[in-house]
Amino acid sequence: ADKSKLPSRPPVVTIMGHVDHGKTTLLDTLRSASVAKGEAGGITQHIGAFSVPVKGEADKTITFLDTPGHAAFSAMRARGAGVTDIVVLVVAADDGVMPQTKEVVELVKKDDNVGLVVAINKVDKAGADVDKVEKALFAEGIQLEAFGGDVPSVHVSGLTGKGLDQLVETISLISEMQDVRAEREGPLHGYVLESKMQKGLGAVATVLLLRGALATGNHLICGSTQAKVRLLTSPTGQSVKKALPGDAVVVSGWKELPGAGDEVLSGTEAQVKKALANRIRKAEIEATLQDVDA
Ligand code: GTP
Ligand code: NA
Ligand code: MG
Repeated sequence: ADKSKLPSRPPVVTIMGHVDHGKTTLLDTLRSASVAKGEAGGITQHIGAFSVPVKGEADKTITFLDTPGHAAFSAMRARGAGVTDIVVLVVAADDGVMPQTKEVVELVKKDDNVGLVVAINKVDKAGADVDKVEKALFAEGIQLEAFGGDVPSVHVSGLTGKGLDQLVETISLISEMQDVRAEREGPLHGYVLESKMQKGLGAVATVLLLRGALATGNHLICGSTQAKVRLLTSPTGQSVKKALPGDAVVVSGWKELPGAGDEVLSGTEAQVKKALANRIRKAEIEATLQDVDA
């Protein structure tokens, strides 16, 4: 199939970096809500997802994923990096390169398909030293434009909003070069960002769509579980009629809790039933082989 004829999909951009370097505040200012203040102790504990329109460009949006910077959430960072087109590495100008900064650098180095933008944040602070931070990032192997490389670095303040327009422009440029396109019709392909049991709804999962469409009544398979989609809402709780590539939607109707990071596919009821039976059978065969090995 000729991919260049497919419709564009909004880029998926994951915000990553060390704890308290200002990821949520920055995103918060971008969409002018107040997530950081509403968080318990200001610590992000999940992958938040939302869509931001690009100024001056009708119909163009960017899907942002927020990730926690706390050391304990390494798996979530890896998951975020795995589904993303572009990583924005946030580094506080007064704190510099820290352990989770380095962790993100390693994740990005492993994946040639991921675009990277550095956002040196908190430039409004008295102790801010942008040059020092950029030198330290270069020493970690980040080929910054300032040193002749191709990684842009934008100087921002999530608190005052300084530099955020330039950040969005930089992301837009990279995304234009990547030219991500996806089929908007037919079978779905996506990933579970997070999942949990919710009172009254049972198992729910936030699913990031990369291809295809999703509506209530659709049949899904994910690992060893399945769903007939009962309720579809945005991460902020609005009901969704039809989700498209680039959307993150909260899906209920699962038989069992799907695993965070697992692949989600759709099909007819019969296809899902058959795929599930095959997977269970495969697991049984593998278990038997392990018995033989032992
Ligand atoms: P985790 O999700 O816990 O990893 O933190 P985070 O990176 O999302 O940081 P968060 O947005 O919670 O901000 C941490 C602290 O830094 C808060 O007190 C913010 O008000 C402050 N902060 C964030 N951005 C800026 C900035 O640009 N300038 C200044 N002065 N303070 C900032
Ligand atoms: Na924080
Ligand atoms: Mg946060």
